Amino acid sequence: MSLKIEDPAVLRAAMVAALRDEGLITSDRVAAAMNTVPRQAFAPGEPLARVYETHTTLAPKIGADGRQTSVVSASHIQAIQLEQAAIEPGMNVLEVGSGGYNAALLTELVGPGGSVTTVDIDADIVARARSGLRTAGYDRVNVVLADAEYGAPAFAPFDRIIATVGAFDIPPAWLDQLTAPGRIVVPLRFAAITRLIAFDRTLDSPVLTASNYRLGSFVAMQGAGAASEQMVAISPDIALRLDPQSTATFHVSALRRALHGTAIERWSGTPFDMPDELELFLLSSGVDVPMLHAAQRAVDQGVVNRTVRLGTPAIIRGGSLAYRIKRENGEMVSGYETGVVAHGPDAELVADELLGLIREWAGHHYRRGAARISYHPGTADASNVTGWHATKRHGSLAVSWS
Ligand SMILES: C[S@@+](CC[C@H](N)C(=O)[O-])C[C@H]1O[C@@H](n2cnc3c(N)ncnc32)[C@H](O)[C@@H]1O
Repeated sequence: MSLKIEDPAVLRAAMVAALRDEGLITSDRVAAAMNTVPRQAFAPGEPLARVYETHTTLAPKIGADGRQTSVVSASHIQAIQLEQAAIEPGMNVLEVGSGGYNAALLTELVGPGGSVTTVDIDADIVARARSGLRTAGYDRVNVVLADAEYGAPAFAPFDRIIATVGAFDIPPAWLDQLTAPGRIVVPLRFAAITRLIAFDRTLDSPVLTASNYRLGSFVAMQGAGAASEQMVAISPDIALRLDPQSTATFHVSALRRALHGTAIERWSGTPFDMPDELELFLLSSGVDVPMLHAAQRAVDQGVVNRTVRLGTPAIIRGGSLAYRIKRENGEMVSGYETGVVAHGPDAELVADELLGLIREWAGHHYRRGAARISYHPGTADASNVTGWHATKRHGSLAVSWS
């Protein structure tokens, strides 16, 4: 017999305990905020037990193309971002993308001496956020209907800017409205992936340096900052996904032939572990490494390994390509071993190239947080950025490895 718990306070405490167990809440202040705000006020109609699940988004709004344009974010993502933001009492905070719940958590964190502004581009979401904030007793939050590409100048400067929407770049207005020192927490899209990044600005440099990055995903930014990644179809079920700014070109018909031809498998002798870190290493290993994606049908037909279903970096040379796979191997610390599958006339070569990168990562960077990520405002600076970098509309993102 399952016990039906109807008390939000009990569910809230269980949510916080689960987020602590996962290592996502690490501070007592974030725990206290999440233990206080009634999350159910921001998702009316959702079952109470669901409201307090840790990996569940709530109250989705679906756009004309069938994709989600808004959700109340899952609490595990909110915990990550709040810890990244390191909010202190008395701060002035801007939230990009509203829902109400996160703005209420921010209000708890800044305390009575601080203030919170949240901006959303969608009038329905602004209305819902206002109503939830009123119900829950947080109506001192400034809720603004606007395109947050331009920040919220009337309430600036901000000690912290927390974007809760997938951004393709860091708009100049956010930098103009950020204090120095200051911190921007942003789900940044680059190389066709998202990382939740905490960028610090110091007093003496315009360059933003990441103090922390984590895996996570968000609905995409709309308005002036919207951008679409490039999709290069290899077949109806398989595609390459690339940054909007990428100028890479591919031999599509040769790659299609290669994928439907024979494949080779090779094994690296290194553990399969922290796939998000390896993914970032591979994507930042050279110019224009695309993400390979496939529909379930291509997996079911045996054309690609199931790892491709969620997207995986692919090394492509002419009509040949390689991507990483895994297998159980009890001799590895993680219980799994990383390998590669390769197709095409130069399958051995691309397999070797990818195996070399996997071994380099496993040998030198096999830990969390080994990437050094920085953002260099102003495209004029791009030529000074050493190592791998992605050119954005308003600056450059650089990734190097320690
Ligand atoms: C994941 S939701 C925000 C979740 C919210 N912070 C919460 O408390 O759970 C992302 C929001 O960003 C909004 N958005 C998208 N593009 C925007 C833009 N350019 N300016 C402001 N808001 C935007 C969407 O309308 C959507 O409501």
